Amino acid sequence: METFLDFYQREVHLAFREDPFSKAPMHVWVICRHQGQWLLTKHKKRGLEFPGGKVEEGEQPLDAACREVFEETGAKVKTIHYIGQYTIPTEKICKNIYLAEIDFIEAQPNYLETDGPVLVSELPDQVEEDEHYSFIMKDGVLRYCLQYINKTNIE
Ligand code: GTP
Repeated sequence: METFLDFYQREVHLAFREDPFSKAPMHVWVICRHQGQWLLTKHKKRGLEFPGGKVEEGEQPLDAACREVFEETGAKVKTIHYIGQYTIPTEKICKNIYLAEIDFIEAQPNYLETDGPVLVSELPDQVEEDEHYSFIMKDGVLRYCLQYINKTNIE
Protein backbone atom coordinates (compact mmCIF):
# COMPACT_ATOMS: atom_id res chain seq x y z
CA MET A 1 0.00 0.00 0.00
CA GLU A 2 1.16 3.54 -0.76
CA THR A 3 0.42 6.42 1.61
CA PHE A 4 0.96 10.06 0.69
CA LEU A 5 -0.63 13.50 0.99
CA ASP A 6 -2.85 15.00 -1.69
CA PHE A 7 -2.69 18.56 -3.07
CA TYR A 8 -4.58 19.81 0.01
CA GLN A 9 -2.36 17.85 2.44
CA ARG A 10 -4.97 15.18 3.14
CA GLU A 11 -3.75 11.64 3.68
CA VAL A 12 -4.38 9.23 0.79
CA HIS A 13 -4.00 5.43 0.80
CA LEU A 14 -3.67 3.61 -2.52
CA ALA A 15 -3.34 -0.09 -3.34
CA PHE A 16 -3.28 -2.13 -6.53
CA ARG A 17 -5.31 -5.15 -5.47
CA GLU A 18 -8.97 -6.19 -5.23
CA ASP A 19 -11.05 -4.10 -2.77
CA PRO A 20 -8.25 -3.10 -0.35
CA PHE A 21 -10.39 -0.51 1.48
CA SER A 22 -14.04 -1.13 0.56
CA LYS A 23 -16.11 -3.74 -1.25
CA ALA A 24 -18.65 -1.06 -2.11
CA PRO A 25 -16.75 2.10 -3.08
CA MET A 26 -18.97 5.10 -3.73
CA HIS A 27 -16.71 6.69 -6.37
CA VAL A 28 -14.90 5.70 -9.55
CA TRP A 29 -12.03 7.22 -11.51
CA VAL A 30 -11.16 6.13 -15.04
CA ILE A 31 -7.80 6.53 -16.75
CA CYS A 32 -8.77 6.64 -20.42
CA ARG A 33 -6.73 6.02 -23.55
CA HIS A 34 -7.80 6.57 -27.13
CA GLN A 35 -5.65 5.92 -30.19
CA GLY A 36 -2.41 6.43 -28.26
CA GLN A 37 -3.65 9.56 -26.49
CA TRP A 38 -5.02 10.23 -23.01
CA LEU A 39 -8.67 11.19 -22.85
CA LEU A 40 -9.43 13.77 -20.17
CA THR A 41 -12.46 15.84 -19.32
CA LYS A 42 -12.34 19.54 -18.54
CA HIS A 43 -14.12 20.01 -15.24
CA LYS A 44 -15.67 23.49 -15.15
CA LYS A 45 -14.10 24.34 -11.78
CA ARG A 46 -11.19 21.95 -11.25
CA GLY A 47 -9.71 21.79 -14.76
CA LEU A 48 -8.36 18.83 -16.71
CA GLU A 49 -8.75 15.40 -15.12
CA PHE A 50 -9.60 11.82 -15.96
CA PRO A 51 -13.36 11.28 -15.84
CA GLY A 52 -15.11 9.82 -12.82
CA GLY A 53 -17.75 10.41 -10.21
CA LYS A 54 -20.24 8.85 -7.85
CA VAL A 55 -21.66 5.35 -8.06
CA GLU A 56 -25.45 5.57 -8.14
CA GLU A 57 -27.85 3.64 -5.93
CA GLY A 58 -28.01 0.00 -7.10
CA GLU A 59 -25.28 0.50 -9.69
CA GLN A 60 -22.11 -1.60 -10.01
CA PRO A 61 -18.87 0.43 -9.86
CA LEU A 62 -17.80 -0.86 -13.30
CA ASP A 63 -21.09 0.35 -14.83
CA ALA A 64 -20.66 3.69 -13.05
CA ALA A 65 -17.19 3.97 -14.58
CA CYS A 66 -18.50 3.49 -18.15
CA ARG A 67 -21.44 5.85 -17.50
CA GLU A 68 -19.23 8.61 -16.08
CA VAL A 69 -16.80 8.34 -19.00
CA PHE A 70 -19.70 8.75 -21.42
CA GLU A 71 -21.43 11.56 -19.50
CA GLU A 72 -18.24 13.60 -19.09
CA THR A 73 -16.65 13.00 -22.50
CA GLY A 74 -19.17 11.38 -24.91
CA ALA A 75 -16.77 8.43 -25.19
CA LYS A 76 -17.81 4.79 -25.50
CA VAL A 77 -15.59 2.35 -23.63
CA LYS A 78 -14.13 -0.54 -25.66
CA THR A 79 -12.27 -2.34 -22.85
CA ILE A 80 -12.00 -1.56 -19.16
CA HIS A 81 -9.96 -3.10 -16.33
CA TYR A 82 -10.03 -2.52 -12.60
CA ILE A 83 -6.53 -1.61 -11.45
CA GLY A 84 -6.81 -0.48 -7.82
CA GLN A 85 -8.50 1.61 -5.21
CA TYR A 86 -7.71 4.69 -3.10
CA THR A 87 -9.20 6.27 -0.07
CA ILE A 88 -9.08 9.67 1.63
CA PRO A 89 -10.22 8.76 5.16
CA THR A 90 -10.83 12.33 6.36
CA GLU A 91 -13.26 12.87 3.46
CA LYS A 92 -14.76 9.38 3.69
CA ILE A 93 -13.96 8.97 0.00
CA CYS A 94 -13.10 5.63 -1.58
CA LYS A 95 -12.59 5.31 -5.34
CA ASN A 96 -12.09 2.37 -7.64
CA ILE A 97 -9.56 3.09 -10.36
CA TYR A 98 -10.00 1.68 -13.87
CA LEU A 99 -7.99 1.74 -17.06
CA ALA A 100 -10.17 2.03 -20.17
CA GLU A 101 -9.56 1.95 -23.89
CA ILE A 102 -12.03 4.16 -25.74
CA ASP A 103 -13.77 2.91 -28.87
CA PHE A 104 -15.08 6.23 -30.21
CA ILE A 105 -16.06 9.71 -29.04
CA GLU A 106 -19.39 11.21 -30.01
CA ALA A 107 -20.08 14.95 -29.53
CA GLN A 108 -22.85 15.55 -26.96
CA PRO A 109 -25.12 18.56 -26.32
CA ASN A 110 -23.74 18.78 -22.75
CA TYR A 111 -21.29 17.02 -20.46
CA LEU A 112 -22.79 17.67 -17.00
CA GLU A 113 -20.39 19.65 -14.82
CA THR A 114 -17.61 19.46 -17.40
CA ASP A 115 -16.81 21.10 -20.74
CA GLY A 116 -16.32 17.69 -22.35
CA PRO A 117 -13.47 15.71 -23.86
CA VAL A 118 -9.85 16.78 -24.22
CA LEU A 119 -7.29 14.49 -25.86
CA VAL A 120 -3.62 14.96 -25.00
CA SER A 121 -0.60 13.06 -26.33
CA GLU A 122 1.33 13.47 -23.09
CA LEU A 123 0.56 14.40 -19.53
CA PRO A 124 2.81 17.17 -18.20
CA ASP A 125 5.93 16.06 -16.27
CA GLN A 126 5.23 18.74 -13.67
CA VAL A 127 1.45 18.32 -13.50
CA GLU A 128 1.51 19.70 -9.91
CA GLU A 129 2.58 23.06 -11.29
CA ASP A 130 0.18 23.15 -14.24
CA GLU A 131 -2.80 25.39 -13.51
CA HIS A 132 -4.86 23.80 -16.29
CA TYR A 133 -4.96 20.51 -14.39
CA SER A 134 -7.31 19.50 -11.58
CA PHE A 135 -5.98 18.89 -8.06
CA ILE A 136 -7.08 15.24 -8.31
CA MET A 137 -4.31 14.75 -10.93
CA LYS A 138 -1.68 16.28 -8.61
CA ASP A 139 -0.89 13.57 -6.09
CA GLY A 140 0.55 10.08 -5.91
CA VAL A 141 -2.62 8.51 -7.33
CA LEU A 142 -1.81 9.51 -10.91
CA ARG A 143 1.95 9.03 -10.47
CA TYR A 144 1.68 5.50 -9.06
CA CYS A 145 -1.07 4.51 -11.52
CA LEU A 146 1.04 5.50 -14.51
CA GLN A 147 3.97 3.50 -13.09
CA TYR A 148 1.68 0.53 -12.50
CA ILE A 149 0.24 0.70 -16.03
CA ASN A 150 3.73 0.89 -17.56
CA LYS A 151 4.98 -1.97 -15.43
CA THR A 152 2.08 -4.36 -15.95
CA ASN A 153 1.52 -3.55 -19.61
CA ILE A 154 -2.27 -3.94 -19.40
CA GLU A 155 -4.23 -3.17 -22.54
P1 GTP B 1 -20.05 16.69 -5.49
O1 GTP B 1 -20.96 16.15 -4.42
O2 GTP B 1 -19.96 15.81 -6.71
O3 GTP B 1 -20.29 18.13 -5.82
O4 GTP B 1 -18.56 16.64 -4.94
P2 GTP B 1 -17.97 17.16 -3.55
O5 GTP B 1 -16.60 17.69 -3.85
O6 GTP B 1 -18.89 18.01 -2.78
O7 GTP B 1 -17.88 15.84 -2.72
P3 GTP B 1 -17.08 14.52 -2.99
O8 GTP B 1 -17.82 13.51 -2.20
O9 GTP B 1 -16.85 14.27 -4.46
O10 GTP B 1 -15.66 14.84 -2.35
C1 GTP B 1 -15.50 15.04 -0.96
C2 GTP B 1 -14.11 15.63 -0.72
O11 GTP B 1 -13.08 14.76 -1.20
C3 GTP B 1 -13.91 16.95 -1.41
O12 GTP B 1 -13.21 17.80 -0.49
C4 GTP B 1 -13.06 16.61 -2.60
O13 GTP B 1 -12.23 17.71 -2.90
C5 GTP B 1 -12.25 15.42 -2.13
N1 GTP B 1 -11.97 14.51 -3.24
C6 GTP B 1 -12.89 13.97 -4.06
N2 GTP B 1 -12.30 13.22 -5.00
C7 GTP B 1 -10.97 13.28 -4.77
C8 GTP B 1 -9.84 12.70 -5.43
O14 GTP B 1 -9.95 11.96 -6.41
N3 GTP B 1 -8.63 12.97 -4.91
C9 GTP B 1 -8.46 13.77 -3.82
N4 GTP B 1 -7.23 13.97 -3.38
N5 GTP B 1 -9.52 14.34 -3.18
C10 GTP B 1 -10.75 14.09 -3.65
